Amino acid sequence: MAKVTPWEVEGNIDYGKLIEEFGTKKIDASLHHKIAEIAGEEHVMLRRDFFYSHRDLGLVLKDYEAGKGFFLYTGRGPSGDMHLGHLIPLIFTKWLQEKFKVNLYISLSDDEKFLHKRNLSWDDVDKYSARNALDIAAVGFDPERTFIFRNSEYAKNAYPLLMQVAKKITFSTAKAVFGFTNETNVGMMNYPSYQIVPSFFEKKRCLIPCAIDQDPYWRIQRDIAGPLGFEKAAAVHSKFFPPLQGIEGKMSASNTESAIWLDDSEKVVRKKIMKYAFSGGRETVEEHREKGGDVSVDVSFQWLKMLFEQDDKHLKDIESEYSSGRMLSGELKQLLVDKVNAFLEGHRARRDKINIDEFMYSGKLSKKMWETTHKA
Ligand code: TYM
Repeated sequence: MAKVTPWEVEGNIDYGKLIEEFGTKKIDASLHHKIAEIAGEEHVMLRRDFFYSHRDLGLVLKDYEAGKGFFLYTGRGPSGDMHLGHLIPLIFTKWLQEKFKVNLYISLSDDEKFLHKRNLSWDDVDKYSARNALDIAAVGFDPERTFIFRNSEYAKNAYPLLMQVAKKITFSTAKAVFGFTNETNVGMMNYPSYQIVPSFFEKKRCLIPCAIDQDPYWRIQRDIAGPLGFEKAAAVHSKFFPPLQGIEGKMSASNTESAIWLDDSEKVVRKKIMKYAFSGGRETVEEHREKGGDVSVDVSFQWLKMLFEQDDKHLKDIESEYSSGRMLSGELKQLLVDKVNAFLEGHRARRDKINIDEFMYSGKLSKKMWETTHKA
C-alpha cells in the first residue's frame, strides 16, 4: 500500500487513485487549452502531465481574465540542503509568475522542520533556511513581486491572522487530516495554521503549486476560508520527481543516493547517474540491440521527459532510438548527465549573483509585507 502524507511518501504511488482519495481533479484538455491560450504556451511539466491535478484552477483563470487577478504561494521546509525534486514546484511557479505577472509568497517553514525532526536543532534549521533561500531565489523569480520569508521571523506580523486560523481548526480535524497522535508535540499540532495563513495574505484567490503530498493543508484551508472572509485556495499538484533507483516513489532527502543535490559536482552527478539510475535496458548489448529498451521504467528517460529535454522532437528521437535498441543505456545516461550538469551549472551561477535582501526584505513586495500586519 502506498502512503502519501506531507511528511512521508512510500510505495508504488497510483496517481490516479490519489486524485480520488484527495478529492482533487485531473487537469483536463479544456484547462490545458485555456492555459496555452492565455500564456501563449504550456510549460513542459504541464504539457507532459507532470503537473497533473488541481483544485479550482479554472476559477483562477477566470479571475485572471476578469481582471481580478490572483496570487501565488508555495514553500520549502528547510531540513537540509535542497535536491532537484525540491526545485520542481519552484520552477513551475517561476513560469506562472512570469506568464501571469503576479505576486508570489514563499514560506521557509523552519518551525515545521524544527518541530517535526527529532534530531534537527534550531541552529540547523537556521543555517538551512539561509542556504535554501539562496537556492530558491536562484530559480529566477521577480524580486519586486516575490516575498521569501522564514515563518519564525515573519510570525509576528502574521500573528493576528494566525490566531484567527488556529481558532477555526479543531484538534479532531487536525488529527483526522494529518494523523496526529498523543505523541505528537503541541507545536506540531498548530503547524497547519502556519502553513495555511499565507494563503490569506491577499484578498484574492491564492494558487498553490506543490507536489500532491501537500494537499491536506488546502483541504482545511478551503473549509475555513469562507467563514474568515477569504477565497478558497486553488492548487496545482505535481507528481513526484522519482528517485534514481526506480520510477516509483519520490526523490527523498533521507536517502542520499536517491537524489541529485544542487551542489553535487559534475563528477558526482555522473557517478550517481551511471551507477544508480534504474535502466530500462536489457541484460546484454546483443539482447538490447534486438529487443530495445523500455522507456516507461527507465529513470534517465523519465527525468529527460519530466524536465531536462524540453524539445519534443529531440525527446521523440531519443525514445525511438532507445526503444529500437539503437541507443544503449550508457548513451542515454550520458545525455542525462550532460543535461543535469548544464542545469546545475546555470543554477549555481545564478545563485552566486543573488542579493537575498531583495527577496526577503527590500524588494517592493517584501517591504510592503513587513509594513503590514494581517488581520482577518
Ligand atoms: P518540502 O521541503 O518537503 O518540499 C518542498 C516542495 O517540494 C515538493 N517536493 C517534491 N516535488 C517533486 N518531486 C519530489 N521528489 C519532491 N519532494 C518534495 C513538495 O511538495 C513541496 O511543494 N511543508 C512544506 C513547506 C511548505 C509548503 C508551503 C510547500 C510550507 N508552505 C506551501 C508547498 C506550498 C515542506 O516541508 O516541503
